Amino acid sequence: MSDIRALVAGNWKMNGTTASLPEAEAVMTRLSAGDFNPNADVMICPPATLLRAMSDRLQGSPVATGGEDCHANASGAHTGDISAEMLKDAGASAVIVGHSERRADHGETDAMVLEKARAAHRAGLTAIVCIGETEAQRRAGETLDIVTTQIRGSIAAGCTGVNTIIAYEPVWAIGSGLTPTTADVAEVHGAIRQELDAHLGADAASGMRILYGGSVKPDNARELMSVENVNGALVGGASLKAEDFLGIIAAYC
Ligand code: 13P
Repeated sequence: MSDIRALVAGNWKMNGTTASLPEAEAVMTRLSAGDFNPNADVMICPPATLLRAMSDRLQGSPVATGGEDCHANASGAHTGDISAEMLKDAGASAVIVGHSERRADHGETDAMVLEKARAAHRAGLTAIVCIGETEAQRRAGETLDIVTTQIRGSIAAGCTGVNTIIAYEPVWAIGSGLTPTTADVAEVHGAIRQELDAHLGADAASGMRILYGGSVKPDNARELMSVENVNGALVGGASLKAEDFLGIIAAYC
């Protein structure tokens, strides 16, 4: 594993109510116990409705919280939207931007994702910028072109290893139980690392974490997390239950 400290982040998506908060608390309890010390940071990104309550319950613990999306503006007439400043106010330290579900369901473009990443930075949040190819794009051999284009379009000057994290999530691997081979993950993460260095400059890109996401489970986490240039995971379904999420975090023990 690399010398970049890993991050295991859970993305609860549109799942969870107040009744789900004990799952997050169970993760906190286990991580605070002292006999379970993964060499990784841990974060849960719940729906915005749970962010304040979850942040309160996890305050001062090894489990950080983040938002799942933000608007590019700080405030204004944008009914239903939530700004990065509001997420910060609700206890978040990071926000996911450009998730493929946002790109697909809400037509988010690279340019919009860039504005959201800038909004995150403006509010003092870490931006977790998601990129990844569709199944058709992979079949057409376009994967590296797609992720390169997404990096150039949604990451810009001002993004550094301190304020920005990349999450490579092949769209076809999300929620499908399918994962790329470790060789494929190594190829894409290596290309992302190279592109970040070229695009931002090695100094700015230094230490920038590149997470893998897409059907990460307790039984495949160790293998996926051991791939070069994989600096952690962005976990969907398996982050909803403490036992599964802890099983993934255990890849770093
Ligand atoms: P799954 O882990 O459910 O495949 O979801 C991955 C994801 O989209 C995380 O953002």
